[in-house]
Amino acid sequence: MLNQLPNYIGSPSWWQLINWIGDPIRFQQKYRQKYGDIFSMQLGGLGSFVIVGNPQAIQEIFSQDSKFDIGRANKLAEPLIGRTSVMLLDGDRHRRERKLLMPPFHGEKLNIYAQKISIITKKFANEWQIEQPFVARSTMQKVSLEVILQIVFGLSEGQRYQQIKSLLTAWLDMIDSPLRSSMLFLQSLQKDWGTWSPWGRMKHRQRCILDLLQAEIDDKRTKNNGKGDDVLSLMMAALDENGQPMTDEELKYELLTILFAGHETTATILAWAFYQIHKNSDVLEKLQRELDILGANPYPMEIAQLPYLTAVVQETMRMYPVLPTLFPRITKSSINIAGYQFEPDTILLPSIYLLHYREDLYPHPQKFQPERFIGRQYSPSEYIPFGGGSRRCLGYALALLEIKLVLATVLSNYQLALAEDKPVKLQRRGFTLAPKGGVRMMVTGKR
Ligand code: HEM
Repeated sequence: MLNQLPNYIGSPSWWQLINWIGDPIRFQQKYRQKYGDIFSMQLGGLGSFVIVGNPQAIQEIFSQDSKFDIGRANKLAEPLIGRTSVMLLDGDRHRRERKLLMPPFHGEKLNIYAQKISIITKKFANEWQIEQPFVARSTMQKVSLEVILQIVFGLSEGQRYQQIKSLLTAWLDMIDSPLRSSMLFLQSLQKDWGTWSPWGRMKHRQRCILDLLQAEIDDKRTKNNGKGDDVLSLMMAALDENGQPMTDEELKYELLTILFAGHETTATILAWAFYQIHKNSDVLEKLQRELDILGANPYPMEIAQLPYLTAVVQETMRMYPVLPTLFPRITKSSINIAGYQFEPDTILLPSIYLLHYREDLYPHPQKFQPERFIGRQYSPSEYIPFGGGSRRCLGYALALLEIKLVLATVLSNYQLALAEDKPVKLQRRGFTLAPKGGVRMMVTGKR
């Protein structure tokens, strides 16, 4: 089967795995130069994967979605978010779960969240002191965690809420570097030898979070009989086609998935946006001019439609993929993609990075140029920060709204500057990629 895969990397599989964990961007750059935009890698015991960085091939993958298992391919995430998470489901169960989870993150509901987002942003930005450096990603993580917790639980205070916040942050900080992330990829490191072993500590924190989530579910059930318009209440009230509600186990892991997927990603993009906006003074000026025209207290939805702000966010998400590739797609039967015949059980990885750095689509891809998004519409297989097909990010509308509102709120009220000159690099953070050091900035004045 191996020789049927395209352009196979020759180096030992353990070496490929180390490099993939250590720096998946450099890995892809290197082998794209050597093999082109579709090639195969062998990652130690994890198996063979075909990286796909070609828009036609990605379009063929998205349009034949039902021919792939994607939940099954996300098995690596199971120890973190559980077997019953939407990310690990396929087929009817996946469709049912998405139908249930989509409404609270789209449409009407977003208007309600918009006001909260600006208030939360002001609360955390107020902690900044003039001329005192702060780490942009850390503040942004506080903002996005508070936003998602309010939306999911309808809560903004209380001891349990504070505990969930600090535990989640500590839990996710355990995989904040390539070395610490390796335990997610190497089963041999997944040994629970109590809280002094890294995996044991990770599992312990996860259990504590799950206990707190269970307590919140119990509370909702006794206090308001599951009625309320927060996401958890909606999930508790939903019944499947047999009239059965979700079990507590399912509820807890779905909550964990949303908390896990829904705040670090947004915080990372915000940190990169602040970085590029303050590295490019012309971008900052244009943005401020656009915001000033709206005047004091604009409607949040007016902010969300600003063309230059939108382009800045799009360009940030082009340059800085939060995931090195989309979720893996496993072929269920033999399938033809881009002229290759793939056997059943081949794992394809559409690459956000390779696609977003193609010269033919994005001239001078290393340059931050929001203008490339003005007057040009990229197709769903040319621009994929949120993935595509039946797996397209469930929280994309909330994420885009949040990113724009946070940027607008901060840039309208503060003058910021980068606190150091050296270029900030991408670094692995668990399954995601984030700015190394988190982007150090400082407030130089108020507007
Ligand atoms: C800037 C922020 C975000 C980025 C860049 C992002 C990116 C992505 C990507 C690339 C995927 C995989 C899609 C695929 O393989 O086709 C995904 C899936 C997912 N995202 Fe996001 N995401 C963001 C924010 C959020 C938020 C705020 C939430 C929660 C409210 C969320 C929840 C999810 C879920 C549940 C999935 C799995 C969907 C499924 O399996 O059907 N994400 N996201």
